[in-house]
Parts: sequence; structure tokens; C-alpha cells
Amino acid sequence: MTNISKFLYGGDYNPEQWPRHTIDQDLALLKKAHINSHTINVFAWSRLEPEEGVYDFADLDDTVARLTDTGSAIVLGTSTAAMPAWLFRLYPEVGRVDYEGRRHRFSGRHNFCPTSPAYRRAAGRLTEQLALRYSDSPNLALWHIGNEYAGRCYCELCETGFREWLQTWYSTIEAVNEAWNMDFWGHRIYAWEDITVPNLLGEGMEDGRSNFAGLSLDYDRFQSAQLLECFCMERDIIRRYDCSTPITNNLMGTYKELDYFRWAREIDIVSWDNYPGIDEAPAYTSMRHDLMRSLKHQPFLLMEQTPSQQNWMPYNYLKRPGQMKAMSMQAVAHGADSVQFFQLKQSRGACEKFHGAVISHAGHGDTRVFREVASLGEELGRVGASILGAVTSPEVAIIFDWEAYWGLEYTSGPSVALRYVNEVYRYYEALYSLNVPVEFVHPEDDLSPYKAVAAPVLYLTSQETCKRIAGYVEQGGVLLTTYMSFVADINDNVWLGTDTPMRQVLGLWVEEIDALKPDRYNRLLPVDERSGLPPEGAACHLVFAQLRTDATCETLAVYASDFYEGQPALTVNPYGDGKAYYLGSPLVSEGARGLMRSVLQEAKVTMREDLPAELDYMVRAQEDYEIVFLVNPKPAPLSFANNWTEAEVLLASENAALTDGAVELGGFSYVLLKVKKP
Ligand code: GLA
Ligand code: ZN
Repeated sequence: MTNISKFLYGGDYNPEQWPRHTIDQDLALLKKAHINSHTINVFAWSRLEPEEGVYDFADLDDTVARLTDTGSAIVLGTSTAAMPAWLFRLYPEVGRVDYEGRRHRFSGRHNFCPTSPAYRRAAGRLTEQLALRYSDSPNLALWHIGNEYAGRCYCELCETGFREWLQTWYSTIEAVNEAWNMDFWGHRIYAWEDITVPNLLGEGMEDGRSNFAGLSLDYDRFQSAQLLECFCMERDIIRRYDCSTPITNNLMGTYKELDYFRWAREIDIVSWDNYPGIDEAPAYTSMRHDLMRSLKHQPFLLMEQTPSQQNWMPYNYLKRPGQMKAMSMQAVAHGADSVQFFQLKQSRGACEKFHGAVISHAGHGDTRVFREVASLGEELGRVGASILGAVTSPEVAIIFDWEAYWGLEYTSGPSVALRYVNEVYRYYEALYSLNVPVEFVHPEDDLSPYKAVAAPVLYLTSQETCKRIAGYVEQGGVLLTTYMSFVADINDNVWLGTDTPMRQVLGLWVEEIDALKPDRYNRLLPVDERSGLPPEGAACHLVFAQLRTDATCETLAVYASDFYEGQPALTVNPYGDGKAYYLGSPLVSEGARGLMRSVLQEAKVTMREDLPAELDYMVRAQEDYEIVFLVNPKPAPLSFANNWTEAEVLLASENAALTDGAVELGGFSYVLLKVKKP
């Protein structure tokens, strides 16, 4: 039920922005680029329902018919992410109230109050009309609900909804006071009506932090769940009419405000929009692909990327020749079963007119971008079917948790520079440079499939999570955790005493945490070769945990200077059949790589240090063969020994070459190899 049946190569297409007669010409041109899928109807509510309850599907019927005639797959949007003007006119409460407390008027998109019954009713009615009308369309490949759900609303409806949500969760006011530690500043509440939403008019701070992180965390849980209810409401309506087409919504990688692990449980197939900034390291992009794949531990869809330029960044670079193709293959290597663009035809007006597209303002195919899109389309046409559905099975996992993400970043102190995703990235990057594929896991996931698990800055956890992680180590697992992990419970109240839930596993407790400006470095000096650090040590910065170790816990490295010179900074503790490493301070890349290498050796994880650190190396498996992806996502060439002389070359980009001796990857290039399973 929940799979797509072909490798999708397409993107957003908005014929409502153009005179009708241009559509045939567009479709013919896109066919030349081997586009086999069109995402339509993402922002067309105002046309479909020009006044409340009055529908006009003539144009959409026509688009669907033409796409069906040309054999294109259809990704059908529900158009509920941008509301029509009449909805605001009739029900102003559908507009959000923002962090500053201002009610939004007809404008923009992604700005509906997720609690508003008027919004839900109207969105549900439109979805039902669409489901009724198009569920049986033969080329319908995927439902695309809303668009990039995001943000927060702080209106009265949300406030009331929040109070009800809290009542269900906590039952009594006393439990709320307790959970949020409301005797701080004498903020004790007496009645449900005393609870206010945590924006700037409430407990929210100017910099987005919170006087009461427990309150803000609950509001995040509530708002993420409210938006998810909007998604589920549309999904359930569609399911009444269509029991087989998969349903998705386009996610946004490490986007902070939605707990995507929880969302993914409700989504048939995860899809996401990849818009790296000009300075984004390819490894960072790969991390986000891996996170998206890991939400369901299944292949995902690349729903959007620009074929060349974005418009909404301060400086919008052109993707260099070959770069779009290499970046697309990078997504596929990490588990994508589609390559899709925003968008297929460039708008002529409004804020996205300078956003790249397959068909540019020039209106024909004689452009660099079009040629590259066509070339990639031809290649994917050849190999897509062999890739579709192939799975990834990393030996190493990193725990990623949106609640810890929120908790760490609400916390006032010890350092504003400690950002959740950046800290996760430090250890991901180390693994990437060792050519070790990574799976992300939610704290509630089973850890037993992994030889090693990293839990960086896992700031808050439940007791059960600690037990699960302890069990993993006890059974022989190798854990690496860090500064600012296992500090607080799920309400952001710090574990008291020194016998905290992870004490036995880690063999230590943390006495103090120093925090210095980001340009003030200390060093970790190795005192045991299992630290993996070079003899001269490795730089660390931001925070410096002061560790008090137990007798069983061995110190592998110490701080090189400051009043804690010579004190433990990196430790390992045996627990059951496994080992738990604790790192007290963020290591810069070389150091992180050394430590990771040592941890992986302990866990007997396969590393491919024979391959260049810059290479994007991934393996996806079908039942009887594996596909090895060797992608060079950077402009500098790479060359290394060819260990796969027996393999069939499934695909090689123009600027890649294989001989018996070597693989030569030009800048922005790739080779895909098909290897028989033993
Ligand atoms: C997002 C949206 C698209 C479009 C692109 C532009 O991903 O989903 O509608 O605005 O950004 O980059
Ligand atoms: Zn609201």
C-alpha cells in the first residue's frame, strides 16, 4: 500500500500561474528532460474554491487529464498550506498569532492556526472534494498533504487547546506546578486559566529561550501535535476514498519545531526538501538525508531541490556545472527513491521569480540547467528501477531527539554557542570522514541492531530511555556520549544527587561545566591510546565538563590547561558486556575523528579509511545485490584504488573513470557499482 511504484523524476509544476494554452508545450519540453512526475496543486486553493463551498475543478481536471495522457506520474497536493482571502475575511481567527502576539492577516502561507476549527473544517472539506474526485486517477502516485508544516501559533484558541491538552496529560494543577518548577520566581498557578502561552507576552524570552523551559517544552509538544493533527485529519479523509496511494508531506531535515520522528509514524513515506546554503558542507547535507531516511528506517523521497539557484538566501549561488547531478546522486546514495525539483517552470512574478527551475524564463530547453536536468533524467531512467526500494543497514547509530533539541536550546546557560544540530554534526562528520554509514535513531527505538551508538548532547531523557540505553551497553553495546547529556528529565528538571540514572553506566558524575567564548580553546591530552587522539592532543572548546570518576571508570584523556589541567576529559567505563565512553568537551574535527576511530575499533565496526575522507560512500541493498555509491560532492577531484574490479558499473557520470587500478572521480561526479551479494 505505501510504496511508490517507480523512481520519480519530477517536481512542482504550477500551471495556474500561466495561460492554459502553454501547458502542452511545457509538458512536451519536460518530457525531453525525462521528467516522469509532476507535483501539482500545492498552492491552488484560491482557484479551486473561489468562495466558501463553491468549487471549480475545471483546470485541475484538465491538468490531470493531460498528465495522464502523457504518462506522467502525478503527485497531488491538497493545497491547504496557503489559505484563500475569503477564509481570512469570514474567519479572521484562522490567521496565526505570532511570538510577538500579533494576529496575522491575509498574507503569506503556512500561517494557519492549527487549532482553529474554521481552518480545519475548510481544509478538510477541500481535501474531501479532491479525494472524491481524483482518488481513482490512474497516474496518481502520491498524495502530498499541505506543504512544509511549520511554526507556532499563540492565539486564544491555541491557549485553550493547550490547557485542555495539559489537563489530559497532568490531571491536576499541582502536577503542572511541579513539572514546570513554578515555585521559581513565585510563579505558582492556581487554575487552568492561569496558564498562558510562552511567547513574548508570556514566559518566552527575546532570544527565543524561556523562563520556564518545562512550559515551553510542553507547548512545543502540543503545537507539533496540533499541526500533526491537521495532517492526520486530511490523511484520514483521503483514506476513506483511496486505500492504496501513499500519502506524504514534505519535511525539512533538521527543522527544529516539529518532532519528525513522531510525524513519521503517521506518514506513509517520508519526503523532504533539500536546500543547502552556499557554505553547507556536503557531509552536513548527507546527515540530513540520513536523518530523513532514519525517520522510518526506509527509503525516502527527495521532494524538492532547486536545479540551480535559490532566491531566499542572502546570496544565491548557482549550482556549478555537474553539482546538481552530484547532489542528486548524493540524495539517492543516502536512500532517496526520487529526485524532484522546485520547480519545473520558473514563476514570472512574486518572491520566487529568481528561484531556479527546469524551464527558466527563457522558456526553452537550450540552457545549461535544462541540459543537466535532461542528462540526469536520462541516467536515472536507466538505473532508477534497480535502485528503487533498496535499503541501507548501517552498523552505527546516532540518537537524535527533538525533545533534547528543544530542551538544550531553551536552556539559559551554560553556553549560547552549544547548538544541538551542530553538536550532533561533529560526531556525524567524524563518521562520514571514516566512510562509516550512519543511521539515526529515536530514543525509543531498538538499539540492538547497532554495534556502536553515539548519544551527543542528549540533554534530557526519560528514566525509560536511560534504562534502554543502559540495557544496550549491558548487552555488549558500545556507547559514546558527551557533555550536556543525561542532565535533565523530560520536563527539564535536573536529575538530583550524584546517583543519576546513567551514573552506573558512565561511571562518573559531572560536578561543574565551564563555558568559554567559542574562540577560547583548551586541549584534550591523551593518557591512554584508546583515546584515539594524537600524542599532542586535540583542540576542544565551548564547554568543559568537570568529571568525577568512579573506580571502574578509566581516564583516556585529560584537560591540558586552566585550573582543571590534568583532570579527566574523556573516559571509558565497562558496564555489563559493553563500554560507555564519555567526552567532556566538544572536539574539533580531527580530534573527533580520532576518538571515533578508536570507539569504532572497540565496537568492531567496518571503516573504509582506504577511501578518501571527502568521498560520499554509501551502500544500498536489494535482495540479491548491493549498489555501492561513490559520490564526489565537491569540486576537487578524488582518486583511489578500485576494490571493485568484479563489480558491474551501473552508472558513471561523464567525469568519472574506472580502470582496473583506480577510480578517478572528477569534481562533482559519481560511480554506482552493482555488487552481487555473497
Ligand atoms: C519550499 C517550498 C516551495 C518553495 C521552495 C523555494 O521548499 O515548499 O514551495 O517555496 O521552498 O525554495
Ligand atoms: Zn492558534
